[in-house]
Amino acid sequence: MKAKKRILTGDRPTGKLHLGHYVGTLANRVRLQDRYECFFIIADLHVLTTRIEKEKIAKVKQNIHDLVLDYLSVGIDPGKAVIYQQSLVPEVAYLALLFSMLVSVPRCQRVPTLKEVMHDLKIQSPSLGLLTYPVLQAADILMVKGNLVPVGKDQESHIELTRVIAKRFNLLYGEIFPFPEALIGEVPTLPGTDGQTKMSKSVGNCIYLSDNANEVRRKVMAMYTDPTRVHPTDPGHVEGNPVFVYHEAFNNNQEEVERLKQRYQKGQVGDVEVKEKLVKALNLFLDPIRARRRKYESQPEAIEEIIKKGSQTAQAEAQKTLKEVKKAMGLA
Ligand code: TRP
Repeated sequence: MKAKKRILTGDRPTGKLHLGHYVGTLANRVRLQDRYECFFIIADLHVLTTRIEKEKIAKVKQNIHDLVLDYLSVGIDPGKAVIYQQSLVPEVAYLALLFSMLVSVPRCQRVPTLKEVMHDLKIQSPSLGLLTYPVLQAADILMVKGNLVPVGKDQESHIELTRVIAKRFNLLYGEIFPFPEALIGEVPTLPGTDGQTKMSKSVGNCIYLSDNANEVRRKVMAMYTDPTRVHPTDPGHVEGNPVFVYHEAFNNNQEEVERLKQRYQKGQVGDVEVKEKLVKALNLFLDPIRARRRKYESQPEAIEEIIKKGSQTAQAEAQKTLKEVKKAMGLA
């Protein structure tokens, strides 16, 4: 029997995860962990590319804890998937150094995310670390010989560079690495509670997986709906209306959603009722997530243990790969 394909993906620990993350990647990861050998990386070294100040580094530890808590609460199972911390596997830095010899500076400069980050964070001239962000990411992926990398579309160029590096390496030194492929989700991005196209922490339009029932209620009742609708008797628009987008994504009772949509379009239901029903649906969706979170919250050592064990597993893979790499290159 052919071995299971390997998946590697993950996140930079920069804060709590929200419903957009759930729809965009987490739900998919929960499914994938049954079918593939999954590695989920908490890329704390990548955080340093844009947050090098000591006060910012000081937040990373808590963020790692919160991220793992979010993973576990949505149902990522450490018995099935390896959850690990990048900096606990220092071999990745060695591999990234070797890879950095195989990519030209202009090639790195052409990666579109670099320009985006520089623009968003008003960075005039990027550090070498920021420039080689995708080289480190290639090392993450190739270190465990990942075949598939489920990521958002914005990360596609990084996976492409990973393949370039793998090809170049194999050509020079022999067939060591697979050519990983990006698995780009089909799901449309979840809008923010303010109606903007994307739920995003920096905008402040998120419902977090860790929000309690009251927070969910407060945020939903204040949600942006159809601005053209003044009275409940006005015919309303459901397309692009975030309240209905959330209903579609999270309400288990699709019959109720269909009825609400029809009544809304005919001007037969008020926003308050539609929102009340969304509060209920969201809390129903979040309740099992909250229950798992409570279980782990009461045992923080268990989380530390999961990270430690996962990192040991990942490190064993890294050491194996690095050994092969050095042998192929004729290094030591
Ligand atoms: N760059 C990814 C992001 O910002 C995080 C990440 C780091 C990653 N290493 C990875 C994703 C390896 C996939 C594979 O979302």
